[in-house]
Amino acid sequence: MSTQTLQLSPPTERKKVTLPYLRTKKQRGEPISMLTAYDYPTALLIDQSGIDLILVGDSLGMVVLGYPNTLSVTMEDMLHHCRAVARGAQGALLVGDMPFMSYQVSTAEAIRNAGRFLQEAGMDAVKLEGGRERLEAIRAIVTAGIPVMGHLGLTPQSVHQLGSFRPQARQAAAALRLLQDALLLQEAGCFSLVLESIPARVAESVSSRLEIPTIGIGAGAGCDGQVLVTHDLLGLFERFTPRFVRQYAQLGEAMRQAFEAYKAEVERRDFPAQEHCVEMPDEEWESYLEQLQLM
Ligand code: KIV
Repeated sequence: MSTQTLQLSPPTERKKVTLPYLRTKKQRGEPISMLTAYDYPTALLIDQSGIDLILVGDSLGMVVLGYPNTLSVTMEDMLHHCRAVARGAQGALLVGDMPFMSYQVSTAEAIRNAGRFLQEAGMDAVKLEGGRERLEAIRAIVTAGIPVMGHLGLTPQSVHQLGSFRPQARQAAAALRLLQDALLLQEAGCFSLVLESIPARVAESVSSRLEIPTIGIGAGAGCDGQVLVTHDLLGLFERFTPRFVRQYAQLGEAMRQAFEAYKAEVERRDFPAQEHCVEMPDEEWESYLEQLQLM
Protein backbone atom coordinates (compact mmCIF):
# COMPACT_ATOMS: atom_id res chain seq x y z
CA MET A 1 0.00 0.00 0.00
CA SER A 2 1.44 3.42 -0.93
CA THR A 3 1.82 6.05 1.77
CA GLN A 4 -0.48 8.31 -0.31
CA THR A 5 -3.43 5.99 0.19
CA LEU A 6 -2.71 4.78 3.74
CA GLN A 7 -5.64 5.74 5.93
CA LEU A 8 -5.75 4.78 9.55
CA SER A 9 -9.16 4.04 11.03
CA PRO A 10 -10.13 6.37 13.84
CA PRO A 11 -9.29 4.80 17.19
CA THR A 12 -12.31 3.24 18.81
CA GLU A 13 -13.11 4.77 22.15
CA ARG A 14 -14.75 1.92 23.98
CA LYS A 15 -14.68 1.04 27.60
CA LYS A 16 -13.40 -2.48 28.08
CA VAL A 17 -16.11 -5.08 28.62
CA THR A 18 -15.52 -6.88 31.93
CA LEU A 19 -16.83 -10.07 33.52
CA PRO A 20 -18.88 -8.14 36.15
CA TYR A 21 -20.42 -6.10 33.32
CA LEU A 22 -21.59 -9.31 31.60
CA ARG A 23 -23.10 -10.57 34.86
CA THR A 24 -24.87 -7.21 35.29
CA LYS A 25 -26.26 -7.45 31.76
CA LYS A 26 -27.75 -10.83 32.63
CA GLN A 27 -29.25 -9.49 35.85
CA ARG A 28 -30.80 -6.57 33.95
CA GLY A 29 -32.10 -8.83 31.19
CA GLU A 30 -29.95 -7.03 28.58
CA PRO A 31 -28.89 -9.40 25.78
CA ILE A 32 -25.16 -10.02 25.33
CA SER A 33 -23.66 -10.08 21.82
CA MET A 34 -20.69 -12.16 20.71
CA LEU A 35 -19.15 -12.83 17.28
CA THR A 36 -16.13 -14.75 16.11
CA ALA A 37 -13.09 -13.13 14.50
CA TYR A 38 -9.83 -14.56 13.27
CA ASP A 39 -8.00 -11.52 11.85
CA TYR A 40 -7.17 -7.88 12.51
CA PRO A 41 -9.56 -6.07 10.11
CA THR A 42 -12.58 -8.11 11.18
CA ALA A 43 -11.76 -7.63 14.86
CA LEU A 44 -11.47 -3.88 14.29
CA LEU A 45 -14.90 -3.69 12.63
CA ILE A 46 -16.61 -5.92 15.18
CA ASP A 47 -15.08 -3.93 18.02
CA GLN A 48 -16.19 -0.64 16.45
CA SER A 49 -19.75 -1.98 16.18
CA GLY A 50 -19.90 -2.34 19.97
CA ILE A 51 -20.23 -6.14 20.18
CA ASP A 52 -19.61 -7.28 23.79
CA LEU A 53 -17.32 -10.26 23.19
CA ILE A 54 -15.11 -11.50 20.38
CA LEU A 55 -14.44 -15.22 20.28
CA VAL A 56 -11.42 -16.42 18.35
CA GLY A 57 -13.14 -19.74 17.78
CA ASP A 58 -11.52 -22.94 16.64
CA SER A 59 -14.15 -22.70 13.88
CA LEU A 60 -11.06 -21.02 12.39
CA GLY A 61 -10.18 -24.51 11.17
CA MET A 62 -13.31 -24.77 9.05
CA VAL A 63 -14.10 -21.23 7.89
CA VAL A 64 -10.56 -19.91 7.40
CA LEU A 65 -8.16 -22.85 7.14
CA GLY A 66 -10.42 -25.13 5.06
CA TYR A 67 -10.40 -28.25 7.26
CA PRO A 68 -13.53 -30.47 7.36
CA ASN A 69 -13.84 -30.01 11.14
CA THR A 70 -12.05 -28.29 14.04
CA LEU A 71 -9.84 -31.19 15.13
CA SER A 72 -6.73 -30.22 13.17
CA VAL A 73 -6.45 -26.75 14.71
CA THR A 74 -3.31 -26.38 16.84
CA MET A 75 -2.30 -24.10 19.70
CA GLU A 76 0.07 -22.30 17.32
CA ASP A 77 -2.79 -21.69 14.82
CA MET A 78 -4.94 -20.29 17.59
CA LEU A 79 -2.26 -18.05 19.11
CA HIS A 80 -1.33 -16.65 15.69
CA HIS A 81 -4.93 -15.62 14.95
CA CYS A 82 -5.61 -14.45 18.53
CA ARG A 83 -2.66 -12.03 18.29
CA ALA A 84 -4.10 -10.53 15.10
CA VAL A 85 -7.52 -10.12 16.71
CA ALA A 86 -6.04 -8.58 19.86
CA ARG A 87 -4.30 -5.94 17.73
CA GLY A 88 -7.67 -4.92 16.27
CA ALA A 89 -9.95 -4.95 19.31
CA GLN A 90 -10.01 -2.53 22.22
CA GLY A 91 -13.32 -2.75 24.02
CA ALA A 92 -14.71 -6.22 23.41
CA LEU A 93 -13.81 -8.95 25.89
CA LEU A 94 -11.57 -11.37 23.99
CA VAL A 95 -12.04 -15.11 24.36
CA GLY A 96 -9.57 -17.61 22.89
CA ASP A 97 -10.91 -21.08 22.08
CA MET A 98 -8.72 -23.88 23.42
CA PRO A 99 -8.13 -26.32 20.54
CA PHE A 100 -8.61 -30.07 20.59
CA MET A 101 -5.99 -31.81 22.79
CA SER A 102 -4.77 -28.61 24.44
CA TYR A 103 -6.69 -29.23 27.70
CA GLN A 104 -7.62 -32.93 27.70
CA VAL A 105 -4.23 -34.59 28.30
CA SER A 106 -3.40 -33.27 31.77
CA THR A 107 -4.38 -30.48 34.12
CA ALA A 108 -0.85 -29.07 33.97
CA GLU A 109 -1.01 -28.82 30.17
CA ALA A 110 -4.47 -27.28 30.36
CA ILE A 111 -3.25 -24.51 32.69
CA ARG A 112 -0.10 -23.90 30.65
CA ASN A 113 -1.99 -23.70 27.36
CA ALA A 114 -4.74 -21.51 28.81
CA GLY A 115 -2.05 -19.19 30.16
CA ARG A 116 -0.49 -18.83 26.71
CA PHE A 117 -3.73 -17.29 25.38
CA LEU A 118 -3.41 -14.46 27.91
CA GLN A 119 0.37 -14.16 28.11
CA GLU A 120 1.30 -14.51 24.43
CA ALA A 121 -1.84 -13.66 22.48
CA GLY A 122 -3.66 -10.79 24.21
CA MET A 123 -6.81 -12.75 25.13
CA ASP A 124 -8.82 -11.96 28.28
CA ALA A 125 -10.34 -15.43 28.74
CA VAL A 126 -10.43 -18.92 27.27
CA LYS A 127 -13.25 -21.21 26.20
CA LEU A 128 -13.23 -25.00 26.31
CA GLU A 129 -15.75 -27.69 25.43
CA GLY A 130 -17.29 -30.30 27.68
CA GLY A 131 -19.21 -30.92 30.88
CA ARG A 132 -18.44 -32.84 34.09
CA GLU A 133 -15.39 -34.53 32.54
CA ARG A 134 -13.69 -31.10 32.31
CA LEU A 135 -14.26 -29.93 35.89
CA GLU A 136 -10.73 -30.59 37.09
CA ALA A 137 -9.16 -28.68 34.20
CA ILE A 138 -11.63 -25.79 34.56
CA ARG A 139 -11.06 -25.48 38.32
CA ALA A 140 -7.30 -25.48 37.80
CA ILE A 141 -7.39 -22.85 35.04
CA VAL A 142 -9.75 -20.60 37.03
CA THR A 143 -7.55 -21.03 40.13
CA ALA A 144 -4.63 -19.79 38.02
CA GLY A 145 -6.59 -16.57 37.52
CA ILE A 146 -7.76 -17.23 33.98
CA PRO A 147 -11.45 -16.69 33.21
CA VAL A 148 -13.09 -19.72 31.55
CA MET A 149 -16.15 -19.87 29.31
CA GLY A 150 -17.72 -23.34 29.09
CA HIS A 151 -19.36 -24.88 26.02
CA LEU A 152 -22.17 -27.47 26.19
CA GLY A 153 -24.61 -29.08 23.77
CA LEU A 154 -23.13 -29.62 20.33
CA THR A 155 -19.40 -29.63 21.05
CA PRO A 156 -17.72 -29.81 17.63
CA GLN A 157 -14.43 -31.24 18.97
CA SER A 158 -16.41 -34.40 19.81
CA VAL A 159 -17.87 -34.70 16.30
CA HIS A 160 -16.71 -38.31 15.92
CA GLN A 161 -18.27 -39.31 19.24
CA LEU A 162 -21.50 -37.46 18.41
CA GLY A 163 -21.59 -38.91 14.89
CA SER A 164 -22.25 -35.58 13.14
CA PHE A 165 -22.89 -31.90 13.78
CA ARG A 166 -26.46 -32.57 14.90
CA PRO A 167 -28.58 -30.96 17.65
CA GLN A 168 -28.15 -32.28 21.20
CA ALA A 169 -30.25 -32.64 24.38
CA ARG A 170 -33.49 -33.45 22.59
CA GLN A 171 -34.42 -36.20 25.04
CA ALA A 172 -35.42 -35.47 28.64
CA ALA A 173 -32.49 -37.44 30.09
CA ALA A 174 -29.95 -35.65 27.91
CA ALA A 175 -31.53 -32.27 28.71
CA LEU A 176 -31.32 -33.00 32.45
CA ARG A 177 -27.72 -34.12 32.12
CA LEU A 178 -26.92 -30.90 30.27
CA LEU A 179 -28.54 -28.85 33.05
CA GLN A 180 -26.49 -30.72 35.66
CA ASP A 181 -23.32 -30.09 33.64
CA ALA A 182 -24.18 -26.40 33.36
CA LEU A 183 -24.59 -26.14 37.15
CA LEU A 184 -21.32 -27.99 37.70
CA LEU A 185 -19.46 -25.73 35.29
CA GLN A 186 -20.86 -22.68 37.06
CA GLU A 187 -19.74 -24.10 40.41
CA ALA A 188 -16.29 -24.83 38.98
CA GLY A 189 -15.91 -21.13 38.20
CA CYS A 190 -16.94 -20.62 34.55
CA PHE A 191 -17.95 -17.00 33.99
CA SER A 192 -20.29 -17.89 31.11
CA LEU A 193 -21.43 -20.84 29.00
CA VAL A 194 -21.95 -21.30 25.29
CA LEU A 195 -25.00 -23.48 24.59
CA GLU A 196 -24.83 -24.81 21.04
CA SER A 197 -27.59 -26.42 19.00
CA ILE A 198 -30.01 -27.52 21.73
CA PRO A 199 -33.79 -27.03 21.94
CA ALA A 200 -34.77 -23.45 22.73
CA ARG A 201 -36.85 -24.49 25.73
CA VAL A 202 -34.00 -26.46 27.24
CA ALA A 203 -31.63 -23.51 26.74
CA GLU A 204 -34.13 -21.14 28.36
CA SER A 205 -34.67 -23.47 31.30
CA VAL A 206 -30.90 -23.83 31.82
CA SER A 207 -30.31 -20.07 31.45
CA SER A 208 -32.96 -19.25 34.05
CA ARG A 209 -31.34 -21.62 36.57
CA LEU A 210 -27.85 -20.16 36.23
CA GLU A 211 -26.37 -16.99 37.70
CA ILE A 212 -23.75 -16.81 34.94
CA PRO A 213 -24.80 -15.70 31.45
CA THR A 214 -25.42 -18.24 28.69
CA ILE A 215 -24.52 -17.42 25.10
CA GLY A 216 -26.59 -19.37 22.61
CA ILE A 217 -25.89 -20.52 19.07
CA GLY A 218 -28.77 -22.48 17.64
CA ALA A 219 -30.28 -22.46 21.13
CA GLY A 220 -33.11 -19.95 20.75
CA ALA A 221 -33.83 -16.48 22.10
CA GLY A 222 -34.08 -17.53 25.76
CA CYS A 223 -30.30 -17.46 26.28
CA ASP A 224 -28.69 -14.41 27.88
CA GLY A 225 -26.77 -13.67 24.71
CA GLN A 226 -26.13 -14.85 21.18
CA VAL A 227 -23.07 -15.80 19.16
CA LEU A 228 -22.65 -16.58 15.47
CA VAL A 229 -19.66 -17.55 13.39
CA THR A 230 -18.97 -14.31 11.54
CA HIS A 231 -18.30 -16.06 8.23
CA ASP A 232 -21.80 -17.62 8.42
CA LEU A 233 -23.42 -14.27 9.23
CA LEU A 234 -21.62 -12.57 6.32
CA GLY A 235 -22.28 -15.31 3.77
CA LEU A 236 -18.54 -15.98 3.50
CA PHE A 237 -18.64 -19.71 4.24
CA GLU A 238 -20.52 -21.45 1.48
CA ARG A 239 -19.77 -25.13 2.17
CA PHE A 240 -22.89 -25.37 4.36
CA THR A 241 -25.02 -23.01 6.40
CA PRO A 242 -26.48 -24.34 9.66
CA ARG A 243 -30.24 -23.87 10.02
CA PHE A 244 -29.79 -21.55 12.99
CA VAL A 245 -27.80 -18.98 11.01
CA ARG A 246 -29.28 -15.73 9.75
CA GLN A 247 -27.20 -14.25 6.93
CA TYR A 248 -26.90 -10.47 7.33
CA ALA A 249 -24.90 -10.07 4.10
CA GLN A 250 -23.81 -12.10 1.09
CA LEU A 251 -20.15 -11.14 1.05
CA GLY A 252 -19.09 -14.36 -0.69
CA GLU A 253 -21.15 -13.36 -3.72
CA ALA A 254 -19.97 -9.73 -3.49
CA MET A 255 -16.32 -10.92 -3.39
CA ARG A 256 -16.82 -13.23 -6.35
CA GLN A 257 -18.27 -10.35 -8.38
CA ALA A 258 -15.40 -8.07 -7.36
CA PHE A 259 -12.76 -10.67 -8.36
CA GLU A 260 -14.46 -11.21 -11.73
CA ALA A 261 -14.66 -7.45 -12.35
CA TYR A 262 -10.97 -7.05 -11.48
CA LYS A 263 -9.95 -9.89 -13.78
CA ALA A 264 -11.99 -8.45 -16.64
CA GLU A 265 -10.54 -4.95 -16.16
CA VAL A 266 -6.98 -6.26 -16.00
CA GLU A 267 -7.57 -8.20 -19.19
CA ARG A 268 -9.08 -5.12 -20.91
CA ARG A 269 -6.27 -2.92 -19.52
CA ASP A 270 -8.92 -0.75 -17.83
CA PHE A 271 -7.06 -1.18 -14.57
CA PRO A 272 -4.86 0.47 -13.42
CA ALA A 273 -6.09 3.88 -14.63
CA GLN A 274 -4.24 7.20 -14.50
CA GLU A 275 -5.33 7.92 -10.92
CA HIS A 276 -3.73 4.71 -9.70
CA CYS A 277 -0.30 5.55 -11.14
CA VAL A 278 2.71 7.14 -9.46
CA GLU A 279 3.67 10.52 -10.98
CA MET A 280 7.22 11.49 -11.99
CA PRO A 281 8.19 15.12 -12.64
CA ASP A 282 8.64 15.81 -16.40
CA GLU A 283 12.22 17.05 -15.94
CA GLU A 284 13.18 13.83 -14.18
CA TRP A 285 11.63 11.81 -16.95
CA GLU A 286 13.56 13.88 -19.59
CA SER A 287 16.77 13.35 -17.68
CA TYR A 288 16.09 9.65 -17.48
CA LEU A 289 15.54 9.48 -21.25
CA GLU A 290 18.71 11.43 -21.92
CA GLN A 291 20.79 9.17 -19.74
CA LEU A 292 19.18 6.16 -21.35
CA GLN A 293 20.61 7.30 -24.70
CA LEU A 294 24.09 7.30 -23.19
CA MET A 295 23.91 3.76 -21.90
O1 KIV B 1 -15.42 -22.20 17.42
C1 KIV B 1 -16.40 -21.46 17.46
O2 KIV B 1 -16.59 -20.54 16.66
C2 KIV B 1 -17.37 -21.70 18.52
C3 KIV B 1 -18.70 -21.00 18.41
C4 KIV B 1 -19.55 -21.73 17.47
C5 KIV B 1 -19.33 -20.84 19.74
O3 KIV B 1 -17.13 -22.45 19.40
